[in-house]
Amino acid sequence: MKVTIVTANGETVLNAATGSNLLSLLQSNAFFVDADCGGRGTCGKCKVKLLEGNTSAPLDEGGFFNCCKHTVDGDITIDLNDNTAGAFSAATAIAPHRIKARQGYGLAVDIGTTSIAVYLVDLSNGKPLDSAAQLNRQISFGADVISRINASSGDGLTLMQQSVRTQISAMSEELLRKHNIKEFEKTIIAGNNTMLHLYLGKDPSGMGQAQAVIFSSLNENQIYEEARKLILEMLRKEIPKLPPS
Ligand code: FES
Repeated sequence: MKVTIVTANGETVLNAATGSNLLSLLQSNAFFVDADCGGRGTCGKCKVKLLEGNTSAPLDEGGFFNCCKHTVDGDITIDLNDNTAGAFSAATAIAPHRIKARQGYGLAVDIGTTSIAVYLVDLSNGKPLDSAAQLNRQISFGADVISRINASSGDGLTLMQQSVRTQISAMSEELLRKHNIKEFEKTIIAGNNTMLHLYLGKDPSGMGQAQAVIFSSLNENQIYEEARKLILEMLRKEIPKLPPS
């Protein structure tokens, strides 16, 4: 079956198996859909507009339906342009991290459950020069930490890790481009424990239990190793630092 998705960037045609869930299909192909309840059909946020084809999900007067309630059973064309929450206003500044004065620029990243903020920092004085913030696209998997933990089973963990890494890379590359800077000398990534687990691709399910097992408390060398791998994809000079959350 063909699922055609219209966004501001044009049309994308996906081949979908009969019986696929439309929200899952969009998530696994990196389309952002606001889905606070993680696809349980209770939040009403995952509306997309039907342009062509049919849906068994209830249609509202404007021709919108909740994509988590649609099972692919025929060709369909949808418009995603109205399911964008837009840019989030700049988050509060990250508390200054102790750094030695040096020449060059640093990147500070704050992974919030709701929003992600990136800061360009002048390493000579530790002051932020610019920042940007966006809604955390993992919202497609649930609005809160518990929903994300629940969504991390199966492919969810990989998909959420890809989501946050891709988003941070795009946001930081934009800072580099905007300021005509070649690279960051230092990178610091902060977030709550769940966000850091998802960033590292580590199973966060232990944190949903009474005796939480937290990856970051297990082995500092493991964290170092994980961060070392990330440097390869993030093209930073130094290994990103993940301060304790
Ligand atoms: S109603 Fe919440 S994701 Fe669809």
